[in-house]
Amino acid sequence: MSSLKNTTLLFFLFQAIVLINHQVRSDDEEDSLLQGINKYRTSLNLTAFVKNENAACLADQIAEQYKGEPCTNSTGSNTIIGTENHFPNYPDFLAHCKLNISNTADGSIMPACVPNLDPTLVLWNFTKSQYSGDLNDTKYTGAGIASEGDWIVLVLSTNSSQGSYQTYKAAGFIPRPSHLFHFIVFLMACFFFL
Ligand SMILES: *[C@@H]1O[C@H](CO)[C@@H](O)[C@H](O)[C@H]1NC(C)=O
Ligand SMILES: *[C@@H]1O[C@H](CO)[C@@H](O)[C@H](O)[C@H]1NC(C)=O
Ligand SMILES: *[C@@H]1O[C@H](CO)[C@@H](O)[C@H](O)[C@H]1NC(C)=O
Ligand SMILES: *[C@@H]1O[C@H](CO)[C@@H](O)[C@H](O)[C@H]1NC(C)=O
Ligand SMILES: *[C@@H]1O[C@H](CO)[C@@H](O)[C@H](O)[C@H]1NC(C)=O
Ligand SMILES: *[C@@H]1O[C@H](CO)[C@@H](O)[C@H](O)[C@H]1NC(C)=O
Repeated sequence: MSSLKNTTLLFFLFQAIVLINHQVRSDDEEDSLLQGINKYRTSLNLTAFVKNENAACLADQIAEQYKGEPCTNSTGSNTIIGTENHFPNYPDFLAHCKLNISNTADGSIMPACVPNLDPTLVLWNFTKSQYSGDLNDTKYTGAGIASEGDWIVLVLSTNSSQGSYQTYKAAGFIPRPSHLFHFIVFLMACFFFL
């Protein structure tokens, strides 16, 4: 009985460590991209992007779709304009994040694929590609970033209601599913520790 409990404890502890590690690593990549982009904005005398968690929620939904797809010379920031992926389940992503299409229409969604998300290459994929035209645009004021596998997705928001990414339950906090999952695993690990 006690050995079963110990095995379970070890299992959950291991899971929690692996998952929290992964989360911290991918948060690092997201923060480093935002910092890099904001340095780029500052060098152009533009205001820095403010973190937009609702845009990050949508970015996470989109990154989930790309996860596992290999990087090629026609994906991510190399995509030829007009051939971007159009997700039939996009309305589901919006609903998941409690977003209304009328508050996201002016935003900009930019997926990039870089093996192992090497931070320098990731930044170049945004600042030295077709995306730079949006990054230097004064109409964008906020940014949400999420990553999955080799993919990182940047979603830009504006200060107008058409691009604010405000949720229809503005007061509600929406945990990203991955965060929630890690939290539950973490709690379980703590529980088994007792
Ligand atoms: C940014 O502003 C400074 C001071 O106003 C100016 O000297 C510099 O040329 C500007 N840089 C750009 C890229 O506009
Ligand atoms: C992309 O890769 C394919 C196959 O490797 C190659 O034929 C094509 O020329 C490349 N396109 C560009 C724009 O580099
Ligand atoms: C989305 O916005 C439109 C126009 O403002 C409104 O008619 C619609 O009810 C909204 N949908 C949701 C789910 O809030
Ligand atoms: C983006 O990253 C990929 C993978 O490293 C690379 O092949 C591509 O050239 C990069 N694009 C830009 C514009 O930096
Ligand atoms: C923004 O970037 C695009 C593409 O690199 C360039 O054509 C444009 O002149 C830039 N605009 C400003 C205001 O720097
Ligand atoms: C956008 O709105 C925020 C919050 O209302 C404000 O702090 C910021 O200065 C605005 N940015 C621009 C460029 O208007």
